[in-house]
Amino acid sequence: MRQKLLSEGAKELSYEIREIVKKAEKLKALGLPIYWENIGDPIQKHHRLPEWIKNIVAELAMENDVYSYCPSKGVLETREFLARQTNAMGGVKISADDICFFNGLGDAIAKVYQFLDQTSRIIGPSPAYSTHSSAEAAHASHEPLTYKLDPENHWYPDLDDLYKKVKYNPNVVGILIINPDNPTGMVYPLETLKRIVEIAREFNLFLIADEIYINITYNGTRAYSLAEIIGDVPGISMKGISKELPWPGARCGWVEYYNRGKDEDFNRFCQAIDNAKMIEVCSTKLPQLAWPKIVGDPRFKIYRDETNQSIGRRSKAISKILASVKEVTFNETNGAFYNTIIFRPGVLKPNQKLKIENADARNLVEKWVSADIPLDKRFVYYLLGAKGVCVVPISSFSSDLQGFRVTLLEEDETLLINIFESIRNGILEYVS
Ligand SMILES: Cc1ncc(COP(=O)(O)O)c(C=O)c1O
Repeated sequence: MRQKLLSEGAKELSYEIREIVKKAEKLKALGLPIYWENIGDPIQKHHRLPEWIKNIVAELAMENDVYSYCPSKGVLETREFLARQTNAMGGVKISADDICFFNGLGDAIAKVYQFLDQTSRIIGPSPAYSTHSSAEAAHASHEPLTYKLDPENHWYPDLDDLYKKVKYNPNVVGILIINPDNPTGMVYPLETLKRIVEIAREFNLFLIADEIYINITYNGTRAYSLAEIIGDVPGISMKGISKELPWPGARCGWVEYYNRGKDEDFNRFCQAIDNAKMIEVCSTKLPQLAWPKIVGDPRFKIYRDETNQSIGRRSKAISKILASVKEVTFNETNGAFYNTIIFRPGVLKPNQKLKIENADARNLVEKWVSADIPLDKRFVYYLLGAKGVCVVPISSFSSDLQGFRVTLLEEDETLLINIFESIRNGILEYVS
C-alpha cells in the first residue's frame, strides 16, 4: 500500500468471548456437544420473553411510522420518558436533550472512546470487560489502564490502587465503573461509589458508569445508580435493553450525560458524541418505541423481579457446586449474570491435562495448547475438548489473574447442574 493502512491501536481490538466460539465450532464439527457458557445472551440460553411483551412489539411493527428514520438522538417521547425516570431517583437532573440513543451499548462505547484525545485515558476495572478496555486501549494505542477488583474481597475495587493510579498519572481524565460488573457479577457498594465520586472530584475527572445490568440484582442486593450519587461531578451513564428486557438482537442502548453544564470541555465532548450519531442519521427505532410501553407496564416489574430471583437461585446452585473447591477462589455473585472463578496461585501448571476421548478433538486441543498461551487459556481449551463446556479465560479480560468466566443463564436446571458439575470435575481432574 502507498501508505500504512492500519492504526497502531488496532492491535488492541480483541474479544475472546466470541474468539473462543471459533475453537468451540471446530470441536462441534467433530461431533462434540458444546455447552455455551461464554456469552451473556439470555435468549440463547433458553429464556422466553412473556407473550405480552412480544405483543407490544408485534403491534408496533404493524404501524407504518415505525419504518421511518427517527431524530438523530432518538425518539423524543422515549428520551423524555427516560429523563423522567432518571429525575425520579432524586439525584442529578437531566432533560431529553441529555440522552442519545445508539445501536446497542457497544456502539455507544466505541463512540465515547473514539472521540477522546489520544493522550487522555480512562481507567477501568480489571478483570476488564473487553468492549470497554479494547476500545479505550485502541484509542490510546496503548494497553488498557486498569484498577484492581479484588477476588479476596468480594471482587470490590481496590480503592488504594485506583487512587494511586489516578494521582500519579496526569493523563487519566475519567474513571469507568461497570455496575453490576461484567465479568465478576460484583455490585459496587454505596460507600465505594461515593469514594470514587470523591476521587473524580479531587482530580477534576469525569465518570463513566456502564449500567446495562443496573436492574439485575438478587440475593437481597441493590445497585446504586450514578445519577443518585454523582452530585455535581460530570458523568456519562450507559444503559440498554440487551440484558434487562432482554432483547440483545434489537441493538438498542443509550447514554445519559450528567452535569454537562459544569464543565465546558466535558460539554464539548458530549456534543462530539451526539454529532457522531448525527452523521450516521439515527439508531434503531422500533426498540426505542417499544421500551417505554414495556417498562411502563405494571407487569414489567413483576417479570423482572421473578427473572432476577431465578438468576439468584442459579447463583446459589452454582455456589453449592463450586464454593468448596479448594483450588479456586469463588465469590457468589449478586448482580448481572456472570461469575468469575479464579485459580489460587500456583495451582495451574504447564503440564496439566484432561482426558479427551475423541482422538480428532484431542489432536486439535493439543495443537492449540502447544502455542505460547496463558495457563488459564490452556485449561479452558482442555475443558472444551474434554467436557464440551465453553467458558472464557480471565487472562483475556486484561487481568494477570488466572481463571475463567461463566454465565448464570442456563434456564434448564438439570442442564445447569450438569454443566457446573462438569466444570467442577474438570477442575479437579485437571489439577490432580
Ligand atoms: C457491561 C456491558 N456493557 C455493554 C454491553 C454491550 O451491550 P449491547 O448489547 O447493548 O451492545 C455488554 C454486553 O455484554 C456488557 O456486558
